[in-house]
Amino acid sequence: MSNIVEIKNLEVTFATDGGDVKAVDNVSLTLAPGEVLAIVGESGSGKSVTAKSVLGLLPETAVSRGAILLNGKDVIGMSGKRLRELRGVDVAMVFQEPSLALNPVFTVGWQIAEGLRAHGKVSKKQARVKAIDILRRVGIPEPERRVDYYPHQFSGGQKQRVVIAMALVLEPELIVADEPTTALDVTVQAEILDLLRRCRDEFGAAIILITHNMGIVADLSDRVAVMYQGKLVEEAPAQELFDSAKHPYTQKLLVLFLASAPVLPELRRGSSTGRRRVETITLSQWWLRTI
Ligand SMILES: Nc1ncnc2c1ncn2[C@@H]1O[C@H](COP(=O)(O)OP(=O)(O)OP(=O)(O)O)[C@@H](O)[C@H]1O
Ligand SMILES: [Mg+2]
Repeated sequence: MSNIVEIKNLEVTFATDGGDVKAVDNVSLTLAPGEVLAIVGESGSGKSVTAKSVLGLLPETAVSRGAILLNGKDVIGMSGKRLRELRGVDVAMVFQEPSLALNPVFTVGWQIAEGLRAHGKVSKKQARVKAIDILRRVGIPEPERRVDYYPHQFSGGQKQRVVIAMALVLEPELIVADEPTTALDVTVQAEILDLLRRCRDEFGAAIILITHNMGIVADLSDRVAVMYQGKLVEEAPAQELFDSAKHPYTQKLLVLFLASAPVLPELRRGSSTGRRRVETITLSQWWLRTI
């Protein structure tokens, strides 16, 4: 099956008052349908700029070179109109701060239905039924009533579920999640990650997941791309990366992760390699024990 995303030699430069800033430097990545690719790397390494490039969401001060094929269509240079058509149907996004993705003046039901109406020919009534259904599926209690709530009437974790519901309702082939759980409470984090996992399992969505949390990487991703100063310095299947990271920066990331993980009997029983230790418990269990 052909790749859903093919990033070829992507280079993104921002024109700023202080001169040009090269945020992404010759990055090439591919993503197969249903695959979860984690992008990790220190702050400012170009993760979000790469993700936004895939969605065509960069500001006008950005100049992009290379190619980003989304289902074979090049996003770079695509018109705003075509990009809007792609978003939702082919690709959806979940960002760190759910409030930014929600419009405060419309009910969540209206916003979910809007996506459906914009992309398909569903009646108002059908859209509402679908909105209630998707809210239920992402774990919002009493969806029949809450479909008429405004964003401020939801908690932070619930808002992120609503954002995921908006992303899911069109069953996109690709979800780009940029630190989707960072702003959330640890218990809610685990639930949101389970939800993303279900997106992959039930809808077959491919996921680009950006996170600083190597535990999440170990738990969810098939492949890992490590960025450093705008460059892709390492890319490997998750297990291989945890077993034998090659780049010194990746090794440092793993050491930091293992040092910050609580020492549990199960962890101690693991071998000395990072991956074996991480594998001995699931991340959800790990989280629950750290509370
Ligand atoms: N709109 C912009 N204008 C100018 N420079 C920008 C802009 N957006 C990002 N950059 C620069 O691009 C580089 C990469 O930023 P990016 O947001 O991709 O980092 P990141 O890896 O997502 O970091 P974090 O983990 O902190 O979210 C940084 O040097 C940043 O300052
Ligand atoms: Mg970022």
